Amino acid sequence: MIKKKENGETEIKESKTNIVKTGGKLYIAGEYSVLTPNQSAIIKNIDIFMQAEIKFSEKYSIYSDMYDYSVTLEEDDENYSLIRETVKTVNKYLQLKKVDVKPFDMKITGKMERNGKKYGIGSSGSVTVLTVKAMSKLYNYEISSEEIFKLSSYVLLKKGDNGSMGDIACISYENLVIYTSFDRNLIKEKMKNSSLSEIMNLEWGYKIEKIHCPEKLEFLVGWTGIPSISGKMIVEVKNSINKEFLEKSEEIVRNLKNGIEQGNKKIISENVEENSKLLKMLHEKIYSRKLLELVESAEGLDICAKSSGAGGGDCGIAISFNRNDTEKLLERWESRGIELLYKSEL
Ligand code: PMV
Ligand code: MG
Repeated sequence: MIKKKENGETEIKESKTNIVKTGGKLYIAGEYSVLTPNQSAIIKNIDIFMQAEIKFSEKYSIYSDMYDYSVTLEEDDENYSLIRETVKTVNKYLQLKKVDVKPFDMKITGKMERNGKKYGIGSSGSVTVLTVKAMSKLYNYEISSEEIFKLSSYVLLKKGDNGSMGDIACISYENLVIYTSFDRNLIKEKMKNSSLSEIMNLEWGYKIEKIHCPEKLEFLVGWTGIPSISGKMIVEVKNSINKEFLEKSEEIVRNLKNGIEQGNKKIISENVEENSKLLKMLHEKIYSRKLLELVESAEGLDICAKSSGAGGGDCGIAISFNRNDTEKLLERWESRGIELLYKSEL
């Protein structure tokens, strides 16, 4: 902020820098099924973070280390269009809440990729949630997880995202969640003729519930190093989704939720493996060669594994019930060029 001093000199007074972060996500079960309204998925938060530094400034300036240059809010830069749309939507929302909006400087770091290859842990969802959180922090606006979810989903729907918003649910709630999806076409249709305030006040019909596993189980993420584009995979796979698939998937997700909440190894591994088979049968593109190898590596070990998310590349997951077996799995992964990207408790 530039201030005129009493003696006429100008003084640059730095406004306080606020820092916020958001993590990534990976699907454990319910992929593709959750694209149908009222179907559910279990999604795990991944503590690999993106960070935003934000402070008031003379004019808007937005920077991301993904692109390594800054833009203003007026520039129609393709790379920044998602962030810009988020800023515009949140500005509108804050104004509805009687907040006086001002320009700011925002710097985003932590790009969730290596050498230009994305990990597939939800960077576009994460950057949207990050921008919503950063702006709320800047204005000291106490935002709920529900508002973060709805605002971020609103932006993504407006941008034509064809996903279930399960990524947004997990990243907004920063926890292992079971997410039951809403009818995105219905909300999109309503967005055409309703104000942001009306849309935000609507009951969207989704459900997000945090899940907790009482046992210390190892959750492992294997990265194939091959990027896959979920939007394209959805277009290719969606015609194969039928009633039988949806019913089976929902049953698996419900059983798995119970298994996780009981810390019951048998229920967890059975349902992870069932879901894996179901996805393999759904469409041949889901299990790429590397993802097949990732799962095969768990054979004979006290570990269950499956592809995660849209498949075709990106990551697969494993849940280990035995630390010695984890070592064996990691050796097998390494020999097949699959990298342990992340490890945590389930
Ligand atoms: O590959 P990911 O992590 O973006 O997951 C996609 C999961 C789908 O169910 C295939 C699509 C969605 O948005 O739910
Ligand atoms: Mg993916």
